[in-house]
Amino acid sequence: MSIRANMLLGAVAAAALVGGSAFSAHAADTVKIGLILPMTGGQASTGKQIDNAVKLYMKQHGDTVAGKKVEVILKDDAAVPDNTKRLAQELIVNDKVNIIAGFGITPAAFAAAPLATQAKVPEVVMAAGTSIITEKSPYIVRTSFTLGQSSTIIGDWAVKNGIKKVATLTSDYAPGNDALKFFKEHFTKGGGQIVEEVKVPLANPDFAPFLQRMKDAKPDAMFVFVPAGQGGNFMKQYAERGLDKSGIKVIGPGDVMDDDLLNNMGDAALGAVTAHIYSADHQSKENKEFLAAYEKAYNQRPGFMAVGGYDGIHLIYAALQKTGGKADGDSLIAAMKGMKWESPRGPISIDPETRDIVQNVYIRKVEKKNGQLWNVEFETFKDVKDPGKTKK
Ligand code: PHB
Repeated sequence: MSIRANMLLGAVAAAALVGGSAFSAHAADTVKIGLILPMTGGQASTGKQIDNAVKLYMKQHGDTVAGKKVEVILKDDAAVPDNTKRLAQELIVNDKVNIIAGFGITPAAFAAAPLATQAKVPEVVMAAGTSIITEKSPYIVRTSFTLGQSSTIIGDWAVKNGIKKVATLTSDYAPGNDALKFFKEHFTKGGGQIVEEVKVPLANPDFAPFLQRMKDAKPDAMFVFVPAGQGGNFMKQYAERGLDKSGIKVIGPGDVMDDDLLNNMGDAALGAVTAHIYSADHQSKENKEFLAAYEKAYNQRPGFMAVGGYDGIHLIYAALQKTGGKADGDSLIAAMKGMKWESPRGPISIDPETRDIVQNVYIRKVEKKNGQLWNVEFETFKDVKDPGKTKK
């Protein structure tokens, strides 16, 4: 570890040690949440959705829980992990937050993990999806998803539905590698063949040169993982290169068919089949209410990132209720373990062993209803745990 990193950790540890006596009476009445999100840069749509959802939840449920006032301090890390680390450090040491939350991409969630451990501050991961994240600190709890949860299921679905040859296009960083690994494992075990494999950079990807290779490989379908926010651009280039006309269907985890972008993708998206944890079209009372409230407040359809944020803030509220307002990290994490509730996405819980989310995965197809595009769910896999845990 670098000297600088050690110094940072030292400062956090010192702050945590004196924390008990340094908190004023005023601080004891307030629970502070440091919300670190990409509000600018390539991942800004993730940050905006989560910020929107947290604000909506607090408007609906008030800003007081178990006698404590909840205060959210929003910081923009622009999805740059060095920023995430510095901001987490400042929030913990200077603002004395009780919880850090958000984390738009995996490297950001990783960057904050040692600080969460040192300071014993819960890190609520609302967006990032690489399996190993929750193993980076005993203070991490996740309300988003893992790529393994959906990529295993779409791999099996592809085999069962007569897809024999697949070309893959995945974003070249940890969650993309998880998506690829789990898909490949399930698809090839069932007899499927990978005919082309390309990885695209996370930042500002130009898909065009890769799409030509995809077209030339003549697969039955292409498996795509790009992070939330990039699906619109991907589908535009997919259509421009005529891949829709050549009958190469898009399959994958649902990130590429993100609900907040779907309607602008046009008919090229029709028929895309993805496995995912949330569809804005999910038919439940909870989702109808959530969708209506979010659309009313922001004049936009929420995507799965919004739901990760909505559930993340709910988890914090529910944990505070359970501890009677006790806001030290150990009490909060203990309260969060095993928590179950009905989310707009369906029933979910926090696995008490892994602190990761357990949730339904739905297979969905893009269809047009009343002139609008929706991910219409047609098959449900219940209570799916992350398949990627290395520890028991
Ligand atoms: C991640 O960086 O873990 C991540 C980001 C966006 C997604 C999925 C995973 O849509």
